[in-house]
Amino acid sequence: MEIKRRHDAFLLVDDAHAIGTMGTTGRGSPEFFDLDPNEIDLWVGTLSKALGSGGGFVAGSRELVEYLKFSTPGFIYTVALSPGSAGAALAALRLLQQQPQRVAKLQRNARLLLELARQRGLDTGPAGDTPVVPIMVGNSHTALLLSRRLLSRGIDIQPIVYPAVENDAARLRFMITARHSEEQIRRTIDALAEDLKEVQSESVPIAQWQSVLSGKSPMPLDRDRSGESDAAANRQMPSDDQLSDASLRAPSTSTGQHDWTKTDLQDYLINFIVEQTGYPPEFVEMDADMEADLGIDSIKKAQLFGELGQHFEITPDENLTLDDFPSLQEVFDYIAAQVGIEA
Ligand SMILES: Cc1ncc(COP(=O)(O)O)c(C=O)c1O
Repeated sequence: MEIKRRHDAFLLVDDAHAIGTMGTTGRGSPEFFDLDPNEIDLWVGTLSKALGSGGGFVAGSRELVEYLKFSTPGFIYTVALSPGSAGAALAALRLLQQQPQRVAKLQRNARLLLELARQRGLDTGPAGDTPVVPIMVGNSHTALLLSRRLLSRGIDIQPIVYPAVENDAARLRFMITARHSEEQIRRTIDALAEDLKEVQSESVPIAQWQSVLSGKSPMPLDRDRSGESDAAANRQMPSDDQLSDASLRAPSTSTGQHDWTKTDLQDYLINFIVEQTGYPPEFVEMDADMEADLGIDSIKKAQLFGELGQHFEITPDENLTLDDFPSLQEVFDYIAAQVGIEA
């Protein structure tokens, strides 16, 4: 506010996460920071978070709002909020006005989670007075595995991983509600602290990676390839039908399909890197270190194994980890040996 005043600047505040959660009665940032809402030129928010509906709002001066009504595509070229969504958001707003104790409970729950996490030595990053609490876990693969482990205990916490955040800023993100009980929060933090220690203490077996990623990364074959780069098209894998008699097939070519050869596998691996990095194929050497030289992080490496494993129906030995495959050459040697491609 002070900077705004000093520079006579125009202020836009996105209160998507603060409406219904911050301030004593859930009125968002102005209430939390004890500001005059009229000092915010454009105050925007969503109806899709605390208010449990869909759509959003823009609040501002009468002139500005009038101007937006006549100039923004959302008003000119599309239908208004459906009556159902409007009714749901209105009901939520009324509840918020009538039952501010829900907001107080939410804030108590968030504080409890934060306190317990800090007591356990967990890294809560920039968490402050909001019910969206991150637990920083070090890297993307730890976040994915931890989230999966917790889900198997009945605790659903979404991982935020690269490229949404830097790899070393990967985290689990808690969304606390007023309906969580103290017991649930305590159990969650206990489980998280326990599982995090286990996940961090070991290099992750590739077999686990495959199960984490299966179904999450669309296979090249599943996509409509019409608008894709040549690299992606070149990476076409055999279909499950083609694999059914265990005779492995090469990528489709204009002359039909043939068994995978050494060259097919090499081309496939190089094209994977080309697609991930945008490097020209001649730049990608089979013995280059995937992480240090080619910038392939563990998630991408795991995705490569996910694709290869699924299509060649290989589940790597429990004691193999991504660290056992520093370059494409090790991947090549391993797959070739498993499926009987002459090196
Ligand atoms: C800061 C912020 N603003 C706006 C939105 C938009 O929400 P929606 O598209 O659900 O209305 C989001 C959603 O995550 C958000 O995090």
